[in-house]
Amino acid sequence: MKVLILETAAEAAARTAGIISDCLAALDRPVLGLATGGTMEPVYTALVELHRNGKADFSNATTFNLDEYVGLSPNQRGSYSRFMQDALFSRVNLDPARCHLPRGNAEDPIAEAKRYEDAIAAAGGIDLQLLGIGRNGHIGFNEPISSLSGRTRVKTLTESTRRANARYFPSANAIPRYAITMGIGTILDARHCLLLATGGGKSAAVARMIEGPVAAYCPASALQMHPQATVVLDRDAAADLRLIHYYQEIHPGGREPKIP
Ligand code: PGA
Repeated sequence: MKVLILETAAEAAARTAGIISDCLAALDRPVLGLATGGTMEPVYTALVELHRNGKADFSNATTFNLDEYVGLSPNQRGSYSRFMQDALFSRVNLDPARCHLPRGNAEDPIAEAKRYEDAIAAAGGIDLQLLGIGRNGHIGFNEPISSLSGRTRVKTLTESTRRANARYFPSANAIPRYAITMGIGTILDARHCLLLATGGGKSAAVARMIEGPVAAYCPASALQMHPQATVVLDRDAAADLRLIHYYQEIHPGGREPKIP
């Protein structure tokens, strides 16, 4: 696991956007896995800025988001489809036909999850998967004790996850109970995983992910099994890491070292 520690949340988001734009530039037909949530908003703002400056070309890209709430239609307030439209899809040169999220309003959510998993495979798999982390260690909506080899499926959200996302909904009753999410097995199949966490509220989950045992109780710890996982943190999210000085020595200021 590569741990890049930046000073501020804004620098961590900019570093993350830079890794994504490098992937866009390096591949003829990049397939990006995308994430939602407050942590990602400055990443998408930075990507839009890079695009406007001619440094991020999405014209050949395909995207697959991690998850979507069951029961919400694509334009509905609170849906991740709406979030992505507003934050990125409508602001860069992505082909809408190649921007994928699970269909939260599908008549049969279980069949939709299978269709989504098959669509990722048909696109050749994901080159770079962007991830956030929940305070309980979830990635996507794989809540604690999710199978570490699970595929895209319907999951029940924990009370703490529903509370954390309450601000996107008009009332507590409107927060969905279920979501369709890529499984941890789906996520681990991505050729590169890139997780961003910022703020002191995430520091305990970050420490369990990086330095704790691999355990379904902390789903993000499964990234320890991935051969190319990069974690980008600000100083607050990194605060509980025991080997923080080692990570900072390897990647000073979050930069790649020049191996002599
Ligand atoms: P957040 O969500 O960025 O809104 O904290 C992250 C997550 O729950 O995966």
